[in-house]
Amino acid sequence: MKLPKSGRDATEILDTLNALKTKDVDWKGGKCFAYVYDAGPEAMDLLKNSFNLFMTENGLDPSSFPSCLELERDVIAAALDLQEAPETAAGSFTSGGTESILLSVKTARDYYRSIRPEITSPEIILPETAHPAFYKAFKYFDIKPVQTKVDPTSYEAIPSEIEKAITENTIMIVASAPSYGMGIMDPIPAIAAIAKKHHLLCHVDSCVGGMYMPFAKKHGYEMYDFNLSVDGVTQLSMDFHKWGYAAKGASAILYKDSALRRHQIFAWSGWMGYTVVNPTVMSTKSGGPVAACWAILNHIGEEGYMDLVGKTQAASEKIRAAIKDIEGLRLLGNPKGNLFAFTAEDFDIFALSEAMKTYGWYIQPQFGFNTVPANIHLSVGASNAPHVDDLIHDLRKCVTDLRSNGTPPLMNELPAQLLEMFENAGPELFDLLGSTLGTDGSDLPDNMREINNLMNLMPSQYRDQLLVEYMNRLYVR
Ligand SMILES: Cc1ncc(COP(=O)(O)O)c(C=O)c1O
Repeated sequence: MKLPKSGRDATEILDTLNALKTKDVDWKGGKCFAYVYDAGPEAMDLLKNSFNLFMTENGLDPSSFPSCLELERDVIAAALDLQEAPETAAGSFTSGGTESILLSVKTARDYYRSIRPEITSPEIILPETAHPAFYKAFKYFDIKPVQTKVDPTSYEAIPSEIEKAITENTIMIVASAPSYGMGIMDPIPAIAAIAKKHHLLCHVDSCVGGMYMPFAKKHGYEMYDFNLSVDGVTQLSMDFHKWGYAAKGASAILYKDSALRRHQIFAWSGWMGYTVVNPTVMSTKSGGPVAACWAILNHIGEEGYMDLVGKTQAASEKIRAAIKDIEGLRLLGNPKGNLFAFTAEDFDIFALSEAMKTYGWYIQPQFGFNTVPANIHLSVGASNAPHVDDLIHDLRKCVTDLRSNGTPPLMNELPAQLLEMFENAGPELFDLLGSTLGTDGSDLPDNMREINNLMNLMPSQYRDQLLVEYMNRLYVR
């Protein structure tokens, strides 16, 4: 578009915006098992109203907007309480899990620069299940990733593998509570003990579990301890905009010792303008996310979260039982919460996600990596719970259909000439694969089955190269 010469009518604009959403996944019907966290219409209205109330306030300057400061202090205090943090602890409100992780990694790097300046090439150890946000942080802040194997059956991180990977350049160990892919809790007490023994920082990534697992635990579900009370854990990320049901743009990075947070804060007065002091990545920031987060935490409250988690746990267990019962499907590992994944034993799993799409379901395909096969991930939320029987019915039907009708034959292995082509290709790789992919990259394909199959067989570095090129084309200019 170009800027219109004269401004358009507001109603017409809102109609156009609403019409744009019609092609999106239908999360309102409870059939989308990813991306959206919906605690019902009353909660949604409160989020919108509280967000709107603070949309224009600027969290950049707490002296001009003490309201934003107060809201943030409250939200962080609630998070610290939930994670059983000691009095010494502190945290920051951030825009999401990725920002919390970026800040934690930057803090670790700068803290080590101050205490161990001889480490010029810092390393962070993380299991194969840790979230890509860490690798993003490593790229931004020039840290070497040291990836360790997880157990090939349970997908839990292996403490002894982590200890073996420690070198004189290690600064931090990462563990997940739980990891996203298969929803698995790592043995955090054992990992944190290793970190403490070697005088290393230990980050628990509880982005997806921080507002869920404390309540699941109170419901009596057995799991490893994972919060800030665990000896050796030094920092923890948790998102409100997932199972806290807050508006998007709401997460926290928490440190057991507030002294560590100092390494996160940026201040600059050496220029010809106003002084900048930012605890987090953003400078100018809307007060909307923190206000909506404060509102939803107060609205739902402990009893409300217990109720939401109770319903979600029951729904998750029902789906897991069905997966174990449906011939041809296999649940991966032994997940405790509302995130889990399953694979297909004898048919194309990517055909299943496409088949379910035709019944209106969005379930998320994931590529295989090392010991985990290609699979489908489900994140079950409160809004999905009433639709679980329908989901199981359609899942059963689609699996039966696919197993009896078969799907078109697929490559089991990439042809050697294709691999050779990857090795020598740059951005033109996309063009080379254009006909196989059935897209020139400028649009979103309807059916992802073939593309997913091809990418599933690619080594991950080529997959990433291809996806970077795809994104670069998709956003056009
Ligand atoms: C375990 C974990 N860490 C980090 C993230 C990144 O969070 P965000 O998408 O809010 O940046 C996610 C997202 O699902 C996650 O599950």
